[in-house]
Amino acid sequence: MLTAASRMSALPFSEIRVMMEKATALQRQGADVIHMEIGRPDFDTPDIIKDAAAASIRSGNVFYTSNFGTPELRQAITRKLMRDNHIDYTPDEILVTVGTGEGAYAAIAALTEPEDEVLIPDPVWLNYLHVPRFFGTVPVRYPLREENGYQIDPEELERLITPNTRMLVINSPGNPTGAVQSARTLTALAAIAQRHDLIVVSDEIYEKLIYGDARHVSIASLPGMKERTVTLNGFSKCYSMTGWRLGYAAAPSRWIDAMVRVHQYVNTCAPSFVQEAGITALEKAEADVQRMVAEYARRRSCIVSAIESIPSLHCTAPDGAFYLFVNIKQTGLSSAQMAGYLLESAQIAVVPGSAFGPMGEGYIRLSYACEYQRIVEAMERLRRAVQALTS
Ligand SMILES: Cc1ncc(COP(=O)(O)O)c(C=O)c1O
Repeated sequence: MLTAASRMSALPFSEIRVMMEKATALQRQGADVIHMEIGRPDFDTPDIIKDAAAASIRSGNVFYTSNFGTPELRQAITRKLMRDNHIDYTPDEILVTVGTGEGAYAAIAALTEPEDEVLIPDPVWLNYLHVPRFFGTVPVRYPLREENGYQIDPEELERLITPNTRMLVINSPGNPTGAVQSARTLTALAAIAQRHDLIVVSDEIYEKLIYGDARHVSIASLPGMKERTVTLNGFSKCYSMTGWRLGYAAAPSRWIDAMVRVHQYVNTCAPSFVQEAGITALEKAEADVQRMVAEYARRRSCIVSAIESIPSLHCTAPDGAFYLFVNIKQTGLSSAQMAGYLLESAQIAVVPGSAFGPMGEGYIRLSYACEYQRIVEAMERLRRAVQALTS
């Protein structure tokens, strides 16, 4: 029998997808499942962005664009990076991608050699584990610990560096923990990257989803870092545009020239009218973004206080994104057992923390990109389910 390539065995389906499928199957049987496993905003895309895309299609903007992206969007991205992130890029340092996921793929494909090592967080968004493996590059996990508020420990990270270490991936605000790396942590990482001549890939897709006094800092804005950093960002999370598939990478132009080679043979370009709407998102949708952030903040307070009031569960209130990484160790169940139990007994879909790496064992990830009243209902069900476990 003709089989798929053997390297596919290194690309398993993610446990998130497995949970979603189980939850959907249960729903089809009539269960009232509350979806807290999904990492996508529940808001519609702001009208101003949809209108821009519709007008763009109607005006006949339906053809291939430059592989790099349109000059207008690349310009708009440089303005955004200056305004929000204080980094001075030129358009030749920008590649428009089909989502941030493609930016991550292109960076790893274009900038690493087989057997190079890439430092990745544990727990991590799974692309950073599997994409390097696809190219024979070796992912090496550095731990994010709850007791440090999931801040990266620079000393611990530096001890993992070998002569083969080529790249350091950071993700702040982070998935799955919601942690925002502090300016102090980033400054220490910048020194390490310079000392060991590392490329830094900084995934900033959740940058605007920040609560309280926390502040997002782009590592490329720190002295000496722009020339060794690939800043990845996209429209999926902050503008609620997951289905539009638009993102970008900002990096030294010689790296962008390498990354565009990967991009041209896979995607050619991002969709033309989506790129035009992207300009509207960057320049005219800030009020919509802030409205969504205010609602996430309201849900976050609700969910954090509910978890803290349930004996045997606790969490670190996350400063960013829309995830809560809940410590379940006192229940005695594993992450996978807890996720299975909550789905079956309380019809709440969550992701076992172990899906994101060994450091995630003993945790479950709840997404609060879920309507407020459903969160209230989910927390009541969770309370009863955990009580039943421990009584
Ligand atoms: C850290 C991180 N980066 C990138 C992505 C994917 O982004 P996009 O939809 O722009 O490909 C996700 C989605 O969950 C994510 O959590």
